[in-house]
Formats: sequence, C-alpha cells, structure tokens
Amino acid sequence: MFNPGCSTPEPYNIQISRTFILREGDNRIACHHFNNNPNLMILIGYSGHSYVINGILNAQGIRVTGYCDNSEKQYNPLSIQYFGTETSSSGLEAIKRDGFFISVGNNGLRNKINGNLKRYDLFPINAIHPTSVIDQTSSISTRGVMICTYVVINAFAKIGMGVICNTGSIIEHECVIGDFAHIGPGAILCGNVHVGENTMIGAGAVVREGIRIGKNVIVGAGSVVVNDIEDERKVVGNPARQIN
Ligand SMILES: CC(C)(COP(=O)(O)OP(=O)(O)OC[C@H]1O[C@@H](n2cnc3c(N)ncnc32)[C@H](O)[C@@H]1OP(=O)(O)O)[C@@H](O)C(=O)NCCC(=O)NCCS
Repeated sequence: MFNPGCSTPEPYNIQISRTFILREGDNRIACHHFNNNPNLMILIGYSGHSYVINGILNAQGIRVTGYCDNSEKQYNPLSIQYFGTETSSSGLEAIKRDGFFISVGNNGLRNKINGNLKRYDLFPINAIHPTSVIDQTSSISTRGVMICTYVVINAFAKIGMGVICNTGSIIEHECVIGDFAHIGPGAILCGNVHVGENTMIGAGAVVREGIRIGKNVIVGAGSVVVNDIEDERKVVGNPARQIN
C-alpha cells in the first residue's frame, strides 16, 4: 500500500491553520510552546533559503537572533550571531533558549538535522506566512513546516513534518504531503495527490489529480505529471518522463 511517509505519531494541529487565518497571534503562540523567548529564533543553516525563512518569521513577529551551521559564514546579510553547529554546546544552548527552525532546502539534510535534534527532544517551530490561505479542515504538522507567501492549502489536505510549501504553490483538496518533501515555487498539485517523503516537486510543475508520487523523487521544474511515479525516480517534461 502506498505510504507517503507522514509519521502518524507526530502532532498535527488543525487549530493552527484555523486560528492563523482568523487571528495571526494565536498561531505564533501555539508554535512557541517550548521555548523561553517566544519572539526570538535561531536558524539552522544560513544561506539563500534561510533569508526567505527570516522574512516569514519576521512577518509572524519573530526576530531571528542567530544561526547554527557547520562553519561561520563570511557573508552575513542579516547580521546575526553564529552559535556553532546545532549539536555543539553553544548551539544547543541557543536553540533551547530561543527555539529553532531548520532552514536547509535540501530535503535529506533537513530530515537528518531534524533527527539529530529529536534525540535531544528538540523540535522546530512552523514558519507560516500571513498571506498564505489554509483551509480550516487541513492538517499541518506542528514541526518545522515552511509555508511561504501566497501559498494555498485546500480542504482536508495533510502536510507532514518539515515540509516546504514554497512561494505561491497550490496544494489542492485531500493532498497528502510526506515528511520533508518540498513543493516548489508555483507548483500545482491537483486534488488528492500523494507526495512521498523527501520528494522534490520542481518550480511550476503540475501534478494531475489522484496521482501517487513515491519517496525521494525529483520532479523537474515545469513538468506535467500524469502518471504515478515510483520511489527514487527523477522525471522531467510534459508528460513527465524518467531520466534516471
Ligand atoms: C530535473 C532536474 C533536477 C534535472 O537536473 P540534472 O539531473 O542536473 O539533469 P540535466 O540538467 O543534466 O538534464 C538531463 C536532461 O533532462 C532535461 N531536463 C532537465 N531538467 C528539465 C526540466 N525541468 N524540464 C524538461 N527537461 C529537463 C535536460 O534538457 C537534459 O536533456 P537531454 O539529456 O536531452 O540533454 C533539474 O533540471 C530541475 O528541474 N530541478 C528543479 C529546479 C527547481 O524547481 N528548483 C526550485 C528551487 S526553490
């Protein structure tokens, strides 16, 4: 049976999407139940993707104070403090104090970092831009989901942990997005599409209703997917064809 990779034991919170649309502040508080400083945040990973996350967090009223990464970055456009790697003593201290978001675009790496911190009982918040429109019957994991500007998530859709719904993407009714998948900018998933764990749907791709896409798949930018795709495949074009 197809398993899109949403970890059922992880918490999902329909209330977050409902309150977010009605009262933005409620969502922010709900996301920060575990840290001491509800208006501060540490980013894990500091490159282009993290600049977008910084903007979303700012729109939620959260200020990014620092970052963890493998090494200190020479280019520091946000002028934030470096705290070492996320599992160093200084990194752990900072993320326990302020909370964190894993701002790494690579799906596998984001998944791995999440697993490393889970061992310390540490979980990322959500970053949800106020311009997104999220149907109140949808379920959004409370852990590390990024929902960018002008995203639409429609009725009874389910979004797994660590998922990126990138700028302007449309996730239609009853879609199921597996953990750590990435729905690229402007991509459209028609109704009841299932996307597997770690899968990347490229910018502007369109996936026909009812399609099942496996785990660790890459769908090229602008592709049109009209057939199911098995795990570990890379597909491009219209209609999408396998290239690996
Ligand atoms: C699909 C993708 C991963 C392939 O990258 P790659 O493995 O390096 O493959 P190549 O660039 O070597 O291309 C292999 C072949 O596929 C074709 N191809 C690659 N991407 C394509 C696409 N999106 N649509 C149609 N054809 C594509 C190439 O023209 C090439 O064809 P050829 O063998 O006939 O010359 C990449 O092109 C892509 O679309 N990435 C998604 C980018 C994106 O959406 N980013 C969002 C970031 S937020």
